[in-house]
Amino acid sequence: MSHGPSAPSAAPHGQSHDHEPYQPVFTPGSARKQELDDLKTRYPDKRACLLPGLWMIQQDRGWISEDAMREIGEQLGVTAAYVKGVVTFYTMYHQHPVGQHFIQVCTTSPCLCAGADKVVEAFLEHTGCKELGLTSPDGKYTVIEVECLGACGFATPVQINEDYVENVTPEKVPEILRGLQ
Ligand code: FES
Repeated sequence: MSHGPSAPSAAPHGQSHDHEPYQPVFTPGSARKQELDDLKTRYPDKRACLLPGLWMIQQDRGWISEDAMREIGEQLGVTAAYVKGVVTFYTMYHQHPVGQHFIQVCTTSPCLCAGADKVVEAFLEHTGCKELGLTSPDGKYTVIEVECLGACGFATPVQINEDYVENVTPEKVPEILRGLQ
């Protein structure tokens, strides 16, 4: 079973908070605006740039706020609701600030049978996150469960930011975390 982040975190690594004035990503003349405009020329429909546009926002801000959804929607001629539908569909997009190391553990049935639930417990304990979707007090980690990561033969696979770690067991978790320091 998969769960998305369950609650807003307290210690983000992204720069924006909901109570701060939103600073647009795609300001006129900025490198990001240029990058997005260049991308638009490659597709017959600029909506096709939504996924990479969201990546740009997440790379720059660490997460995708409602304001950011509005901004990219305006850039691509779609509504904020349309953008939100896309953002909420994919677990790879963060709807609130997350830790520096975003840890996704596959808990779909084959991995669950191989002990993925114990791997999740070990990450929650050793990171200090305590609960799925919450960020550790030091702001370093957020742990979530996800559906199949496409590495079923290497249970339990874990994705940490852009990297895969395979054959993870609860015993290996402390060493994996030390490697992230
Ligand atoms: S079921 Fe876990 S990676 Fe496929």
